[in-house]
Amino acid sequence: MRVLVVGATGFIGQRLVRALNDAGHHVVAFSRSASEESFPEGVEPFDGDLGDPDSLSGLCEGVDAAYYLIHSLTADNFAELDREYARRFSEIASDDGVDRVVYLSGISGDEENLSPHLASRREVESVLAEGSYDLTVLRAAVIIGAESASFRILNDLTDRLPLMLVPKWVRTPCQPIGVRDAISYLVAVLEADETRGETYDIGGPSVWSYESLLKLTAREKGKRVFIVPVPVMTPALSSHWLRLTTDVQYAIARPLAESMRNPVTVDPELDLQTVVPIDQTPIEEAVREALVSA
Ligand SMILES: NC(=O)c1ccc[n+]([C@@H]2O[C@H](COP(=O)([O-])OP(=O)(O)OC[C@H]3O[C@@H](n4cnc5c(N)ncnc54)[C@H](OP(=O)(O)O)[C@@H]3O)[C@@H](O)[C@H]2O)c1
Repeated sequence: MRVLVVGATGFIGQRLVRALNDAGHHVVAFSRSASEESFPEGVEPFDGDLGDPDSLSGLCEGVDAAYYLIHSLTADNFAELDREYARRFSEIASDDGVDRVVYLSGISGDEENLSPHLASRREVESVLAEGSYDLTVLRAAVIIGAESASFRILNDLTDRLPLMLVPKWVRTPCQPIGVRDAISYLVAVLEADETRGETYDIGGPSVWSYESLLKLTAREKGKRVFIVPVPVMTPALSSHWLRLTTDVQYAIARPLAESMRNPVTVDPELDLQTVVPIDQTPIEEAVREALVSA
């Protein structure tokens, strides 16, 4: 199958390109920085910018299936850009007769009161759903891996702050997933025709909170952290606090921190594990692996 990965140089994209290549697909790897050196032999790089229509000519030609892994969180107007990019991609994919598109979105939990980041992920789902291909949406919470922005925040915080005064949302339930499992699910849906046109949640085998994830990350590094939730800490204050405590670009850390108020656990009725079962990695193991390559 000729498979296009849109966002191929990112945290998920790089791993997905390798996995699809290993599975015997002909992979076209697209981003603004795609070059032959970035990918294994046989992968076809496609350098272009979703913000520049002229650079997209031929992007979906002959493509059977595409993965959409784009977000623009570094921009203030990320929701507007992500809407525009998704619409542009959807039109090109539809015009060129792409059969399937798989989009990796965010678990939103409570549909009311979504953070701007999670609301934007949802909006991209609706925009992509307008295309003529079969769309499969996989929604994940925090994906654990060395280059994941969310995991890097956990790692930096536990390195730098033995005592943390944190917003009360640190106790919000979340169901992270190890990056290996996320890639396994992404690859598996391509072989599973029953996942066409469907939306699923993907997660690890257990529910955590940001507090327990921080403690786990510290423990795996042989450290202890003391975490004190403070009810009066506002979203603005807590994101400024992140500016001082993590190397993750503030523009990315801020919307991720704002999303911490939304519970992000797998809805049992949408759990992909019941349709495409994989051997799930315990989160303790995923954190250990991420720390080794961090
Ligand atoms: N990481 C997580 O924990 C997590 C959790 C849940 C859901 N997700 C979702 O998973 C997807 C992938 O996330 P990620 O963590 O892999 O993101 P990432 O590391 O930031 O990768 C984003 C990719 O998109 C490309 N890109 C961005 N703007 C582009 C443009 N205008 N034109 C062409 N390419 C562009 C980037 O490459 P260039 O900058 O080189 O162009 C990069 O390859 C996103 O939809 C995200 O919402 C991630």
